[in-house]
Formats: sequence, structure tokens, C-alpha cells
Amino acid sequence: MPRINEPAAFPLGDRATKRLGYGAMQLAGPGVFGPPRDPDEALAVLREAVAGGVNHIDTSDFYGPHTTNRLIRKALHPYPDDLVIVTKVGARRGADASWLPACSAQELTQAVHDNLRNLGVDVLDVVNLRSMFAIHEPAEGSIGEPLSVLAELQRKGLVRHIGLSNVTPAQIEEGRGICEIVCVQNHYNLAHRTDDALIDALAHRDIAYVPFFPLGGFAALQSSTLSEVARGLGATPRQVALAWLLRRAPNILLIPGTASLAHLRENLAAAELDLPEHAVAALEAIR
Ligand SMILES: NC(=O)c1ccc[n+]([C@@H]2O[C@H](COP(=O)([O-])OP(=O)(O)OC[C@H]3O[C@@H](n4cnc5c(N)ncnc54)[C@H](OP(=O)(O)O)[C@@H]3O)[C@@H](O)[C@H]2O)c1
Repeated sequence: MPRINEPAAFPLGDRATKRLGYGAMQLAGPGVFGPPRDPDEALAVLREAVAGGVNHIDTSDFYGPHTTNRLIRKALHPYPDDLVIVTKVGARRGADASWLPACSAQELTQAVHDNLRNLGVDVLDVVNLRSMFAIHEPAEGSIGEPLSVLAELQRKGLVRHIGLSNVTPAQIEEGRGICEIVCVQNHYNLAHRTDDALIDALAHRDIAYVPFFPLGGFAALQSSTLSEVARGLGATPRQVALAWLLRRAPNILLIPGTASLAHLRENLAAAELDLPEHAVAALEAIR
């Protein structure tokens, strides 16, 4: 498979990370719960992503739980030197697959150790504190206590870099007073642009912005404009949505998720897609 011809890299902590990465959440079973539908394809997706040039994989031990981290380890350990694995802590799964906050010192410490064991590493590259004041969108509230716990685990050498997820600008400011924040992972895509100003502010500070649901997540992006632009370029709507994000700001790092080899190949090819000005203008009108 041809390797990605990346537009540019952006630092994630101390490593230059390619702008098109991979999000592993879809590898767990239905509802991000339990084992994968097709374990062999899940392993093949991970191996092909890395063979295709991906050096940034997003995961969490609460996907499954434990499922995606164990798949990553089985598929890729020992890891290539340039691979950055970003995990997240701050939530846990109920027996009914619900998403519950898990922000106490004991839960965060346990989560870091679970991630270390399941990924098979001595230190985690990047750990995002996933805020759970609300499940789907950021909501205000102090992140000081849980972030201080993570910063202490960083001082102990278990965590190399720290990021935040599902957070407001005020929470990012609070966080930067506690430790260095290398990335922010929030919900953002062509049709969901609440964070427009935040992305630009983070770019000025060399902080990576990693949109989750870049393709719409559980509700696939659908827009007649997107489909028309894609047709005109001989590309798929998903490739156009990813190419638009790559162009949107230099600090955006993509982690589209898929459990399908065919979809992975389609998504990686988006790095090659140049959007002409008229296409960008049409896409900008989608809100
Ligand atoms: N921090 C957070 O709170 C948070 C929340 C959600 C996700 N995340 C992270 O962000 C990553 C990306 O988000 P996501 O995976 O939820 O959503 P996404 O990347 O927006 O979309 C994934 C969905 O699109 C489908 N898909 C992907 N490529 C496709 C293609 N080329 N053609 C047709 N369908 C395609 C996938 O199904 P198939 O498997 O069938 O391809 C899946 O249903 C996750 O993997 C996870 O690592 C973080």
C-alpha cells in the first residue's frame, strides 16, 4: 500500500505527528462495548494504518472496555519508534454499556495502570483527561482536582504528555495553570463548528486540536453540498470532509475511526485530495 503523502506534520508533545491518524474506538463491539465483530479485520486495520504511514493512534481503555488497547498491542507491539498512542481517562463503562464519570484519584490512577498494562508500555505517550460534566458536549466545571492527579502521575514518569477532551476554553485555561497541555480533543466537523475560535487560539499556542467525530461519528455527515462537491472532485463525501479539516487549520490532527479496511484506505487517501477554492467556499456554507 502507498504511504501517506502528508501535507505537513504537527507536534504532539515532543513528536512530529502526521496530520492524518487513526481513531481506534470503532474496533470495539457494537456500542463501543465488548469484542470486535471481526477480530481479524480489526488487527488488519491497525497494521495497515501503520503500514500506510499513520503514526498517531487514538484509543482508550474504556473502549470495550480494554478491547481496543489489547487489539493495538496484539497488532503492533513492539511499537514503531515514531508511533504516538494517545489514550484517555476520566470515564468508565457500566455493565449496561453506559458511560460514567471516573475522576477520583483512585480511578484515574487505576486507569493509567490499566492503559500501561493493556498497551504493554512503561510510559503512556499522551493521556487526555476526558471531562464528563456532560457526556456529548463540554460543560463548565473545575477540572483542577483530576488534572492534578494526572500531573502527579506525569511527575512519577508514567505519563509523557497530557491533553484534555470535551472541554471549554475556560477549562483549558485552568488546565494550563496546572500542567502543559499538548492537545485538545473535542467534537468538531464540517457541520459542527462550535470550536472555530478555539481552534485558532490553540494554533497560536502550538497546541494540537484533534476533532472527534470528524465524519459525524454515530450520525454520519450528510449534506447535498458535500455530496455535490465530492462528485465534482471525483472523491467521496468522507474524503472531502477530511480534506476540509486538514485545510481548516495547521494544528488539526485527524483520527477518523473505522473497523473496515476498505474505509481505512478511502480515508487515508484523503491526504492526497487538494480542495480548490470554489469547493472550499461551497463547503464553508455548510453549518
Ligand atoms: N474524546 C472523546 O470523547 C471521543 C468521542 C468519540 C470518539 N473519539 C475518538 O475519535 C475517533 C473518531 O471518532 P468516531 O470513530 O467516533 O467517528 P468518525 O470518525 O466521525 O466516524 C466513524 C464512523 O464512520 C464510519 N466510516 C468511517 N470511514 C468511513 C468511510 N470511508 N465510508 C463509510 N463509512 C465510514 C465508521 O463505520 P465503519 O467502521 O463501518 O467504517 C463509523 O461508523 C474515535 O475512533 C475515537 O478514537 C473520542
